[in-house]
Amino acid sequence: MKSPEFTILCELLDHGPDYVSGTALAHKLGMSRVGVWMHMEKLRSQGFEFEAVRNHGYRILRTPAELNSLMVHAYLKPRQQSVDLLWLTETDSTNAEAERQLAAARPTPFVVLAQQQSLGRGRFGRVWHSPGHGNLYASFVFRPRLEPARMTTFTLWMGASLCDLVANFCRIQPGLKWPNDLYFEGRKFGGMLTEARIDADQIRDLVFGLGLNVNPSPDALPESLARQATSLATCTGKPVDLNRLTAAIVGRVFSAYEQFVDGRHRDAFADLWNRYDLLRGKAVTLLHGTRRVNGIAGGIDDEGSLLIRGENGRPQRFSAGEVTLERA
Ligand code: BTN
Repeated sequence: MKSPEFTILCELLDHGPDYVSGTALAHKLGMSRVGVWMHMEKLRSQGFEFEAVRNHGYRILRTPAELNSLMVHAYLKPRQQSVDLLWLTETDSTNAEAERQLAAARPTPFVVLAQQQSLGRGRFGRVWHSPGHGNLYASFVFRPRLEPARMTTFTLWMGASLCDLVANFCRIQPGLKWPNDLYFEGRKFGGMLTEARIDADQIRDLVFGLGLNVNPSPDALPESLARQATSLATCTGKPVDLNRLTAAIVGRVFSAYEQFVDGRHRDAFADLWNRYDLLRGKAVTLLHGTRRVNGIAGGIDDEGSLLIRGENGRPQRFSAGEVTLERA
């Protein structure tokens, strides 16, 4: 992406608090200073604020707090700047939009990002509450050409990688509740939903959906979620830079995906899983269909199944189900 607005933004971000002269920007873009000013007006209409000082030039005073495509592109690492990102102000579900894009033959990989969703979906057909103003709703679309059996640990690996990113980015200690929930201090701030189309012996395409509660205050949550959910801003006690976080997540998801497909993730996986596993050693209840199992969680096996040790002491494996933590 090399629009004049993007070039201006990168120049100003690169100079941090220093001014960049209108002449230098005009020279860089091969246009007049009036042309530069017109492109800066376009940036202003997206929520950017600049200071313009005679004989010094321009500098950034404020960047948009909302998800902004130019900001995310500017923060992406050079290697990732060519990633195909589809930006939507609103959609029903980024996973559903990803499916429509696949049906329309959009080349993979690509990412669908939306500021809000009207029908965000979660596991077991649940609704993922998806208001506007400051959350992340993203679907990453890949064609891994792997056998379906290889995919059993995919969401777990992505979740552990994302916990690691959040831990470093936000300086908190999140946890992963098998198989797809991101937690901090007993409350959920994120969820993952992986959906795949499978041909006879190969994954045809894979949609990895990620929803993160980032900046909205807890008051914005519906009553049904108020006691279970949280946001990263609440966890850290301050607003989180959504655009920088989104760029970091796009980078991490792509690199984690590549490691997974090559099989290079294996050594790191056990280590990351053990670091972020929220359940190990805890008393849990697993619901699987009409079955209910109580016991102590004991990590996962090589296929990513959850191990639960019941009263008889023998571990049982579960490849699916919903876990609740028993209160101590
Ligand atoms: C869960 O915890 O049940 C999974 C929630 C996944 C929500 C994300 S938001 C982006 C993507 N689009 C959807 O409709 N769902 C996923």
